Amino acid sequence: MTSTRRHTFLGAGLPIGAVSEKTELVFPDAADLDRAWELGLFYLKAPGHLDLDSARQFGRGLIDDSSVYRRIPKYGELEGFIALENNQQTKLALRRERWDQHYPAHIAAFGRRLDEIGIAIMREVLRQSRIPEPLWDRASGGYASGGGDAFLNFVHYDTRHPDWGLRPHTDYGFVTILDASAPGLQIEIDGQFEDVPVLQGHLIINFGEALNFITAYSDRAVTAVRHRVLSQRATNPVRHGIVYFANPDLDGMLLQFDTSGSARGSSSVEHFFARLERDLTTYQ
Ligand SMILES: [Fe+2]
Repeated sequence: MTSTRRHTFLGAGLPIGAVSEKTELVFPDAADLDRAWELGLFYLKAPGHLDLDSARQFGRGLIDDSSVYRRIPKYGELEGFIALENNQQTKLALRRERWDQHYPAHIAAFGRRLDEIGIAIMREVLRQSRIPEPLWDRASGGYASGGGDAFLNFVHYDTRHPDWGLRPHTDYGFVTILDASAPGLQIEIDGQFEDVPVLQGHLIINFGEALNFITAYSDRAVTAVRHRVLSQRATNPVRHGIVYFANPDLDGMLLQFDTSGSARGSSSVEHFFARLERDLTTYQ
């Protein structure tokens, strides 16, 4: 198969979902949902009330060395203004509890809109899994009912370094919501990396390791898709990304339930994430 044909196949084959008026994740038909669950990735029509333009403008402002937002302090390993080792990606990362303190009000509000989208996706995954609904809160470390942890990150790429934009990895949380301004994202399908084109007016959604973990004993496990971002060059259009990560409570536990409601396994979130974070920043 030629690379052109493969790209055509993937571009045409990526399912497109939407969030309904009832704040539920919906697809045109069941085959689209099947494909999304199988790939671990789909496009989501950006809701009309989501002010992407102002959030993108905020993200673009961070590339300026004089931006005050670049001086937000680090909180542990995961939050603050961070340049990843061995990757070009540079990001301002903050978890939900710090959005009001450090982000402008309209960006904190934007993050809460992404919370609504993330919860809708999470609840549909759990509905499909047939894990009993009374257990959804515990199964998701609180996320499905408005708790848990979430990050809202603004990323760009330091083209002075010849590294990967982002090395091949899987995301460690439940669901990732991405708005990317330029191409570069690729996902691995059958051992081959394939471009995920930017589709105007749409977000890119992918599933992560924690979601794979908690659905492992259910009727419908989801795939955590392996992906990477190609090395960005100074001559490329500047690639910005807005990335939202839906996570369990980072101080809590991940629980694996089956469809009868029995707990089949568990891991502390701290341990689970620490292993994956090492994988992301280690030379492979
Ligand atoms: Fe990722």
